Amino acid sequence: MICSRILKNSKRACFLVSTGLLLSCADRLKPMENPQLETGRFAIAKAEAKAECETGFKAFEGSLHPLLRNNCIGCHDSTPNPQAVAAPHSAANSHTSYYYQITYIDWSKMEDSKIMDKVRTAHWKKYPGGDNVKTSEDDVRKALTMWWEGGQKDCPSLGKFISKPASLAGDLSNWKRVSVNLPNETDVLKDGHFSVETKIENGRYYFRKPFIDGVKLPVRVKRIYTVLNGRGYDTPFDQIKGIVEQEASGTTGVLSSHTTSIPVENAATDALSFGFDDLKGVPKFECVNMEEFKKSVKTEIQRRNCTNCHGGEGKAGTANAKNRLNMDANESELCRAMLTRGNGQYTVESPLIAYPLSGVNGHPVVIPHSGEVLPSWLNWVKSEKLHGF
Ligand code: HEC
Ligand code: HEC
Repeated sequence: MICSRILKNSKRACFLVSTGLLLSCADRLKPMENPQLETGRFAIAKAEAKAECETGFKAFEGSLHPLLRNNCIGCHDSTPNPQAVAAPHSAANSHTSYYYQITYIDWSKMEDSKIMDKVRTAHWKKYPGGDNVKTSEDDVRKALTMWWEGGQKDCPSLGKFISKPASLAGDLSNWKRVSVNLPNETDVLKDGHFSVETKIENGRYYFRKPFIDGVKLPVRVKRIYTVLNGRGYDTPFDQIKGIVEQEASGTTGVLSSHTTSIPVENAATDALSFGFDDLKGVPKFECVNMEEFKKSVKTEIQRRNCTNCHGGEGKAGTANAKNRLNMDANESELCRAMLTRGNGQYTVESPLIAYPLSGVNGHPVVIPHSGEVLPSWLNWVKSEKLHGF
């Protein structure tokens, strides 16, 4: 049922945006296959739900869910146990339960999954009423195997790590930043967040300006899945490949120039998570091709007066621009800041080029002709060979 609804949505039109003006077009634009977008226009792609995972959900209802209902609701029901505040991951509503549980499992390493850890350590013993729980590791292993074999394995991947869900309840008539904690698999990621601006319009959530912050080292990220109530959507964000570095000014670069949208299911209860395939800390880095950076990028920054807004070269700049990209920095910092917003594979769609050239997210079109930055900026990004991006 949900399946057919989502499939129908995916057939709907997409939009081209031209500084706020929406024009509908017949078919979903596949931005990644169409890199030579015209200047001044940019794609808002409508996300398509990945093949609805009805089979995985049904298998869950016949395997892990009954186990949870029999053993875990002393503390994990939708009404929390006041003496043991715990996630409502065993709620009677199997959809609610499903989208929590899916975040506790790494299907590629089931034994290392959080749920296995929690069962192995019989964490419930620490809490009032926990002595009655008799669940063994083997019970859970069997249930997980049944869930996987019974259908989850045919479901599209939602990424290797999935963040805890964030609620989307509240006033979303205007853009508001919604943030999820990064999966705390490693120390580097521990205090990190992934966030997007979101708003509701015509029954859809729109997401834009995704970024990661709070991380200690530069972080490499590849493919980001948008997950609503445990269902994954194909979004332009899943094409992200990049390096995020906390800059001297405290910011990190925006990861994508795209806006994407998915249908609202239930505005009061919808829960948003993000899945990541490849997310890890990487060593600090420096630009290696500084000569090329100076020749093609820095010269253009000077010629086009980016610093009027972004600061530097003796100009104060504006707070809005500097808060996101501060160019009042020494040459190697500036080079890294520009590099982390570029992408040698998703070329003109990288923020480095899409903001000033295509005017995404209301950015002024500062570079009127693509020939001023292409291919020289791209060649420079590629020459840096930063972690293959
Ligand atoms: C007596 C109370 C109690 C019972 C019963 C209980 N838990 Fe928990 N559980 C907690 C509390 C409290 C936490 C959060 C603090 C912690 O991790 O110790 C928690 C955390 C968890 C987490 C991590 C949640 C998160 O969002 O990070 C998982 C997974 C989990 N429990 C699984 C289970 C399973 C599976 C069962 C049943 C077999 C179960 N629990 C039974 C109290 C309980
Ligand atoms: C008239 C002011 C103005 C000028 C000139 C300008 N920018 Fe911007 N730029 C902004 C503002 C404001 C933002 C922040 C937008 C936001 O809040 O998302 C921004 C954001 C950006 C971003 C995204 C940063 C991030 O990580 O979120 C990039 C990349 C960028 N500008 C590049 C440039 C380049 C390159 C030039 C010159 C060729 C330039 N800008 C000139 C105002 C300007």
